[in-house]
Amino acid sequence: MDLAFLAKYYKFFINGTGITLFLSFFGVIFGVIFGVFLALMKLSKKSFLRMPATAYIEVVRGTPLLVQLFIVYYGLPLLTGIELPDLALGIIAVSFNSAAYVAEIIRAGIQSIDKGQMEAARCLGMTHTMAMRYIIIPQAFKNILPALGNEFIVLVKESAIVSVVGIQDLMYKADTVRGISYRPFTPLIIAAIIYFIITFTLSKLVSRLERRLSAGDSR
Ligand code: ARG
Repeated sequence: MDLAFLAKYYKFFINGTGITLFLSFFGVIFGVIFGVFLALMKLSKKSFLRMPATAYIEVVRGTPLLVQLFIVYYGLPLLTGIELPDLALGIIAVSFNSAAYVAEIIRAGIQSIDKGQMEAARCLGMTHTMAMRYIIIPQAFKNILPALGNEFIVLVKESAIVSVVGIQDLMYKADTVRGISYRPFTPLIIAAIIYFIITFTLSKLVSRLERRLSAGDSR
């Protein structure tokens, strides 16, 4: 493998990696914010809250991210008349998608706590809100936080799809380098290696976090 071309084009990969990380980071941040609301709606006893949240989650998880990206990218400016930068549209598409998955992570995290915990808290005289705040959520957090780390890892990989609408992420830049350097193959390997270094590092961090959070569990 001749890597001499890298000396000339390494900046493309660095810039692309920056965009990929930026997009995934804000994708997961906005995904979490929106996902918390969806999860709370889905856990609600009121069906007018539960139903739209369930519908959103099912539709988003049941359609390809590529289709959602196209809908946001071409549809949003058309429907709202607002022109947004490409990258912003990419973040919107990715975070709308992520929110549905995050909502399920949070819902599952909360529901994984034995219902005896809530009953015991209520017996001690706590209100439902207090029990949620001091008993349920802190325990659920241990399952939720590592899962959110994994969602970030998923987004680092899945965000490569935004390259098809011209957002200049790592995948897009790798493709650019393929074109200008007349090397159809090697730039893809470089991109794969960079993606792997990111996801591998992050997954080690998530495992460590998981171990730290469960350190007090085996008493
Ligand atoms: N490739 C999947 C799709 O086309 C995207 C899944 C996104 N997953 C996630 N956890 N945000 O639908």
